Amino acid sequence: MSEAAIKTGSIHVAPNPSGFGAEITGLDISAPLPPATLAAVRQAWADHAVIWFPDQPLTHDELEAFTLQIGPFGFDPFIKPMEGRPHILELRREPNETARNFGAGWHSDWSFQDEPPAGTILHSKVTPPVGGDTLYADCTAAWNALSPVMQKMLDGLTAIHSAALPYGTKGLFAHEQAGGGDRTMEIIVSPEADKTYPHPLVRTHPVTGRKALYVSPVYTVGIEGMTPEESFTLLSFLYEHMTQEKFVYRHKWRENMLTLWDNRSTLHYADGGYDGHLRVMHRTTVAGDRPR
Ligand code: SIN
Repeated sequence: MSEAAIKTGSIHVAPNPSGFGAEITGLDISAPLPPATLAAVRQAWADHAVIWFPDQPLTHDELEAFTLQIGPFGFDPFIKPMEGRPHILELRREPNETARNFGAGWHSDWSFQDEPPAGTILHSKVTPPVGGDTLYADCTAAWNALSPVMQKMLDGLTAIHSAALPYGTKGLFAHEQAGGGDRTMEIIVSPEADKTYPHPLVRTHPVTGRKALYVSPVYTVGIEGMTPEESFTLLSFLYEHMTQEKFVYRHKWRENMLTLWDNRSTLHYADGGYDGHLRVMHRTTVAGDRPR
């Protein structure tokens, strides 16, 4: 954590040295936040894109209530939610499970939707003693680092997003299920996932006004008007560029930590490395706008 930690009202915001990612302490998120505290949390989220709150045990009701203070629930397709909790997904991997860990590919959540979620909230219930980190890539910094010539070429392009690769009828989970995979989470493979949605390849954040690259290897299937070869080459360059170490923050979990990230300006990747250990996380999403 950097020396730049600041106290905003009663809360303490400690950003990473890069400014991407910040730890927030000095508050109890299990109770409704006073307006000034909520405003400070929102400001920290806008400034640092990924924020986390350690030592926050939460019931399901409290997790839902905290989410609703950030914004209305998003819509979470293709994964069976927790019983009686339509807005909470349990990301659970058992010690003996051999299926690849969920989320192991760079993506921005549900970017194939017309109005993808602005944010995702993940609350750690059981963390493994090794591995299980989440990596975040700063897509604003990645955009800023491109040359003006490349920026000019990309700005105004439209990328095509789809859930087909993971959730489609010929996708990865369909193959896994056909092969009798041992995944604990219930994934719903659907022809709905094969639909495509256009979004600007460079989007402008509705709160900060900053531009960010908005493509990912999991959900972007091409660029409008380009041949498949052109799309592939350009997108491959962008993925390499966006996920360079200098743009990535590796988040280490402890039990009862809540993380809120911005899907409009970051990609994330669930790292594995914890075979033989249980990992349980509870996830909600916060509704967002149509990317512009
Ligand atoms: C995800 O939402 O993609 C999963 C992140 C994680 O489990 O670390």
